[in-house]
Amino acid sequence: MFRELTVQALTSIERGYDLLAPKFDHTPFRTPDRFLDAAAGTLRTLGPFEAGLDVCCGTGAGVRVLRPLCRERVTGVDFSAGMLAAAQEAVAGEGTPAVEWVRADVRALPFTGAFDLAVSFGAFGHFLPAERPKLFAEVHRSLRPGGLFAFPLGAPQPFRSPLYWALLGFDSVMRARNLLWRPQFVMYYRTFPLRGVRDDLVRAGFTVRLLPLEEFGRREDGSPNWRLVVARRI
Ligand SMILES: C[S@@+](CC[C@H](N)C(=O)[O-])C[C@H]1O[C@@H](n2cnc3c(N)ncnc32)[C@H](O)[C@@H]1O
Repeated sequence: MFRELTVQALTSIERGYDLLAPKFDHTPFRTPDRFLDAAAGTLRTLGPFEAGLDVCCGTGAGVRVLRPLCRERVTGVDFSAGMLAAAQEAVAGEGTPAVEWVRADVRALPFTGAFDLAVSFGAFGHFLPAERPKLFAEVHRSLRPGGLFAFPLGAPQPFRSPLYWALLGFDSVMRARNLLWRPQFVMYYRTFPLRGVRDDLVRAGFTVRLLPLEEFGRREDGSPNWRLVVARRI
């Protein structure tokens, strides 16, 4: 596993995930079930939905959330052929509706008005802040008017938390790596802040609601540790 992670860190995002795909579900990078379950619980109250899209689906974590919520069809989109192959194998023969797997860069999605729900888990660290407007515009176009784009978002770590320093350290090492090495491997933990994300969603043509995921408790100031961002295409 260490070898794969090292090779992954020295290659492109797409190729890195191709290499990691067979073992991805045993890494901490696969979104844990408790996040998926929490998102599914909230989305259930907002449905029913007809057609769902998992943006950066990887091995299909979000597809598993979408299937019980969507009556007509579910699509997973990712640019790593290796991840898509692993996803296909993992959900083969499981339940309904049928799942379609699409290989595409989500900064150029091949859909227009095709879904009434899009979700994304654990992938936004792969996009620089400057890429967010394009990414959100692509999801916006892929949704039908009134369609929802939903994803969990954690509150920032407090300054005195060890995790704050761990994430800052990780991002600093990645920045140094990306200055020195090509191809770049964009993966940052601290580049997707609520305010900037909300502003970019609004500019892309969404209205935004923030629903607390109470399963994850609250901070000392009373704000939720985790929220489900629910953006509705106007
Ligand atoms: C950390 S994994 C998350 C996978 C899955 N959503 C989960 O929660 O377990 C990130 C995924 O995003 C995909 N990805 C990153 N950048 C992408 C892009 N520009 N277009 C399509 N997929 C992308 C990677 O191939 C990878 O499968």
